[in-house]
Amino acid sequence: MQTTEAIRERHTLKMLAETPWPTQTPSSLATARLLPELCALAGWAPFHQPCHSSHRKAGLDALAPWRFYLLDADGCRRLADFLARSGRDAGKLLPMLWAADALVQATWLPNPPEPGTTGLFEADMANMEHLAAASAAVQNMLLAATDAGLNNYWSSGGLLREAWALEHLGIPTGELLLASVFLFPNEAQGPCLRMPGKLREKRGQWDQWARWARWARWASPNEQAAESGSRQG
Ligand SMILES: Cc1cc2nc3c(=O)[nH]c(=O)nc-3n(C[C@H](O)[C@H](O)[C@H](O)COP(=O)(O)O)c2cc1C
Repeated sequence: MQTTEAIRERHTLKMLAETPWPTQTPSSLATARLLPELCALAGWAPFHQPCHSSHRKAGLDALAPWRFYLLDADGCRRLADFLARSGRDAGKLLPMLWAADALVQATWLPNPPEPGTTGLFEADMANMEHLAAASAAVQNMLLAATDAGLNNYWSSGGLLREAWALEHLGIPTGELLLASVFLFPNEAQGPCLRMPGKLREKRGQWDQWARWARWARWASPNEQAAESGSRQG
């Protein structure tokens, strides 16, 4: 698949299974084998700042400001069982974990906050760039999954971003969950509901989020007038 095709083809698709799908399917086994490559491709994202040394732990000691924690289809079903037994209201999470070939918990690595900082993280330039870089890595993963024919969904995580879930999945405190990436099989393995992203068709057109800037040759007469106005002003 061409890069441009993968960009256009990538779309949110949640698959909600009526009952847990089998785990040792050709699709789920292929996805498990593919996960290391998806992580490697994701990690070609640009990044501007090395992560803080406190995030560089044995084994997970990369400078890059993102980390990925991987569950295969069996892991997804076990997590679903755990959620169901815990009595928590898991909503759509259960049927998605019944359908998923894999779940990737993607975190970004904020610099440790100064004492007295309120909120999730310090709102400074370094953290903005860590978060931006990790987001680029997640998008790379979605594009690579699309290229591999996997349905995918970037979720904020819901229950999966709560402290108990992060702890169970071995995610250190200090890392912030950026995405719960669901990877679903290309072909449904049983009855299911398919849900697209709510905002897919509402994003607008390119000329609603981009314009030629004042010195560009292609600036419209209005923009050129604004330019000469601002030059005179
Ligand atoms: C940072 C981020 C968090 C998201 N979290 C959720 C979520 O929690 N629930 C959800 O339904 N969709 C979530 N989405 C997916 C969006 O709904 C989806 O991308 C949007 O509707 C556009 O559709 P598309 O992905 O098909 O282009 C998230 C997307 C991003 C980038």
